[in-house]
Amino acid sequence: MPSGTDIKTRIELYPLLGSIAAATDLVSPILVNHHRRVTFIAAALGETLGLAQEELRRLILAAAVHDIGGLTVVTRLEAFEFEVDNPSRHTLPGAALLASFAPFAELARVVRFHHLYWQHGRGGAEEGEEVPRLSHILHLADRVAVQLDPAREILAQQRGVVARIKDGSGEMFAPDQIEAFLDLAGREAFWLDLTSPAVGAILERRFPLAAVEFDRGQLLALAEMFRRLIDFRSRFTATHSSGVAAVAAALAGLSGFMPADPDRIMIAGLLHDIGKLVVPAEILEKRQGLASEDFAVIYKHPYYTGEILRPITGFEDIGQWGSLHHERLDGTGYPYRMKGEELPLGARILAVADTFTALMEDRPYRCGISPAGTERIMRDMVEYHRLDRDYVALIQENIGEINDRRHEAQLAANQAHLRFLEECRLLDGRPEVADRCPVSSHGQA
Ligand SMILES: [Fe+2]
Ligand SMILES: [Fe+2]
Ligand SMILES: [Fe+2]
Repeated sequence: MPSGTDIKTRIELYPLLGSIAAATDLVSPILVNHHRRVTFIAAALGETLGLAQEELRRLILAAAVHDIGGLTVVTRLEAFEFEVDNPSRHTLPGAALLASFAPFAELARVVRFHHLYWQHGRGGAEEGEEVPRLSHILHLADRVAVQLDPAREILAQQRGVVARIKDGSGEMFAPDQIEAFLDLAGREAFWLDLTSPAVGAILERRFPLAAVEFDRGQLLALAEMFRRLIDFRSRFTATHSSGVAAVAAALAGLSGFMPADPDRIMIAGLLHDIGKLVVPAEILEKRQGLASEDFAVIYKHPYYTGEILRPITGFEDIGQWGSLHHERLDGTGYPYRMKGEELPLGARILAVADTFTALMEDRPYRCGISPAGTERIMRDMVEYHRLDRDYVALIQENIGEINDRRHEAQLAANQAHLRFLEECRLLDGRPEVADRCPVSSHGQA
């Protein structure tokens, strides 16, 4: 990945959007493959309806991420009812996340209205604005997908699903879109593709998407959007990855690590916890009493960071470092149990930056630790051969500067989180974490 502003990075879209949304489907067995299935149905409907190539592409991209705003398992599962009570709880955050990244902003409106009923044509507009036709196609595709029962033979479900969709003609769904669906639904192969474990591969083969090119600013903005998707799932983690990214970038700069491209370690910091998409927000929010079952879920996250990032072209090393951020030099880390020289510099920097940030920031179960206390703990971790001696020494020598950079990054991230909550109408007057902890514990050296 080049660092010059004029040099572009080529990104394949299915690995980028597909694997990120697919990871969010792993939080519950009921949701597995939901995003891929909805994308497959939406794409097939769009093709049958004769959408222009550019519109079909937009529909596929919106479908591939349509429920990413369902930040908790509760909001994800409530969207699985055939009639959803309060869809804005997940459609507004999804639209806000997408709108924050200019190249995907055009997907935001499609996602915003993907639960809006057709209402005999009145659903063509909402809040005084035109609703994209793609939102209604996505709604239909989604309502087909939520009816599938994994415990029953798919071809025995065909008639029931079709009957329920036809019942919604006019009120829930646009009649011309139902016609297109009936055309597809008459073919057994449609249902077999849809429920195949390989639906992702089938999708890529039948509806290939051209790669896109992002410049440096866009690439950082993309990483920031995904950072929000992970961190904003809980107010307790809302600023974590920004802090890690700032500390990691500071360490990389001070040590001369890859001087040609300090962006890479910054992006790795923003995305190191992306595997937490497989961890329900309800577990991340627990203040105390994490059960062994909870730890069993949490321990999976660095593995999934690697699985999500590695398939993205140009992100191979970022994915590798991210997947290793909980490894320790003495082999006591997880999940690969790698040791000493096996751990690349990028992974060592991330481990130090993650530990430093985690100690200094407020957590659900305790307030931030003082710089002196943090230094002491990190020194002990060096003595026990857990963390890299050189990078911890850099922190000790530059603790004022590094901590200021962490603090500023986390303040900015906190502002971004408050704006996001406001935009999504999620501000409910709960005290912010900062209100629980004394100012002195917020880590100003
Ligand atoms: Fe939804
Ligand atoms: Fe959905
Ligand atoms: Fe982590």
